[in-house]
Amino acid sequence: IRIVLTPGETLPDVDVWLVVDLLRASSTAVAFFEHGGKKILPVSSVEEARRLKANLGDNWILMGERKALPIEGFDLGNSPLAFEYVHLKDKAGAVMTTSNGTLAYLKAASTGKAVFVAAARNAYHAARRALKLKDTVGILCAGKEGRLALDDCLCAGLLLEEILKMAGNVDLDDGAKVVSALWEFYGKDLEKGVYMSESAKLLMELGMKEDIEYCCKVNCSFVVPTVVLLEGRPCLLL
Ligand code: MLT
Repeated sequence: IRIVLTPGETLPDVDVWLVVDLLRASSTAVAFFEHGGKKILPVSSVEEARRLKANLGDNWILMGERKALPIEGFDLGNSPLAFEYVHLKDKAGAVMTTSNGTLAYLKAASTGKAVFVAAARNAYHAARRALKLKDTVGILCAGKEGRLALDDCLCAGLLLEEILKMAGNVDLDDGAKVVSALWEFYGKDLEKGVYMSESAKLLMELGMKEDIEYCCKVNCSFVVPTVVLLEGRPCLLL
């Protein structure tokens, strides 16, 4: 197991990637597909997202955030709770741009390896999908503005634990050892640790505590989105 704690690190050579942005891009992607969403096209900039959506047409939604807030003119922000009241079933898909998560999807996709989206909600199933495929699993933490994010590292600790339950004796790199120690330090209590993070602090200030609670629920979803190239463009699919 190789765990990349910050998105700027050189990516090691692995067979499959699990990309984690616990608060909130990977949790939101899981919720999107749970609610019948078909595709997410991740893009890095707001301008590119607007341009792509204009080309694709009205049947697509535009979603994402900057500084955790919805972007002007977008249909949705980055709250996983939004899909409770937005009907995705008759939409072709969503164009999405977030500060960190979509960049991590694009980075993992550029390796040409298998990529899955992992969060706490789908931790068990994401670990299972990754292990089924091959032996060397990498976990890429999306981080926060190029720096380490405690929430992602804790979710990586949870994923590592799920992987170890299934795979037993595996070789851990230093990133995995750090994450494992951190996971133990917070008593394997994801929510407790996550509330110490900068990302959680910002969401709390913005009154989005419910998003944090939702993202911290462990193993309540079997939805594992994958990132593939569709007509040369990275795309999240089920
Ligand atoms: C991101 O992708 O940067 C995050 O998910 C940020 C957020 O939703 O607050």
